[in-house]
Amino acid sequence: MSVVRKTSEEINRMREAGRLLAKVHEDLGKELRPGMSTLEIDRLGEDMIRSFGCTPSFKNYSGYPASVCVSIDEEVVHGIPSAEKFIREGDIVSLDIGLCYKGYHSDAARTHAVGDISKEASLLIERTRQSFFEGMKFATAGRHLHEISAAVGSYAEQFGYGVVRDLCGHGIGKKLHEDPEIPNYRPLRRGIRFQAGMTLAVEPMINEGTWQVRWLDDEWTVITADMSLSAHYENTIVITEGLPEILTLTESEIAADENLKQYLGARGR
Ligand code: MF3
Ligand code: CO
Repeated sequence: MSVVRKTSEEINRMREAGRLLAKVHEDLGKELRPGMSTLEIDRLGEDMIRSFGCTPSFKNYSGYPASVCVSIDEEVVHGIPSAEKFIREGDIVSLDIGLCYKGYHSDAARTHAVGDISKEASLLIERTRQSFFEGMKFATAGRHLHEISAAVGSYAEQFGYGVVRDLCGHGIGKKLHEDPEIPNYRPLRRGIRFQAGMTLAVEPMINEGTWQVRWLDDEWTVITADMSLSAHYENTIVITEGLPEILTLTESEIAADENLKQYLGARGR
């Protein structure tokens, strides 16, 4: 395993990749309407990515056919967009998007509510997001990789949620997936020691029921084994001597969110 630290020039490119991806997420999130096909969502997202002079990281990655992974309700991740599949009022819809800017990738996911959703569903979305920030408290130079994993997993498990084990976060940079793998549960080993300049995509996938998942016959779509709801939240980050820099957030996302303001206040941004 080789975890590379990025130079400041590389991090500058990743900052731009992250900033543009955050904008794609923000703009695409606002377009979601009941009755929209998941293919329409993908097309809009891909157009936005290309309009910024970037390329979609997922398209043709290991044969994945689209630019945006659209995963509805019990779908955990990697839902394949389709002209025959529609989002409906009351759904929770996870959008996972990656883009490449000047040779560097950024990767982020958000779970959105379509219209009114149940209290349980909105708690799942909120707590999945919070589990990411619990992990961030340990994502600092000198600490160990699996301290993030343990923090994410134990936060989510206290609510009785299932923490997906079959998929992990990852290093990111010149390639979409680099070392290390970042589980969302505590493994036996403590993992590598962080150094400033490492760039990671941390992505909790949290189920309302069991942690167990299965793959659909399309070989991509991952669903919960018990058909319970699942939420996903992901950002690309840079490890520093203090709290990490989160590359895939927009200013308005920060302004709308007390947790984020607190987080960024603590890191002295
Ligand atoms: N965020 C996911 C990941 O990092 C998305 C990958 S989808 C794929 O694994 F199509 F690119 F595989
Ligand atoms: Co990812």
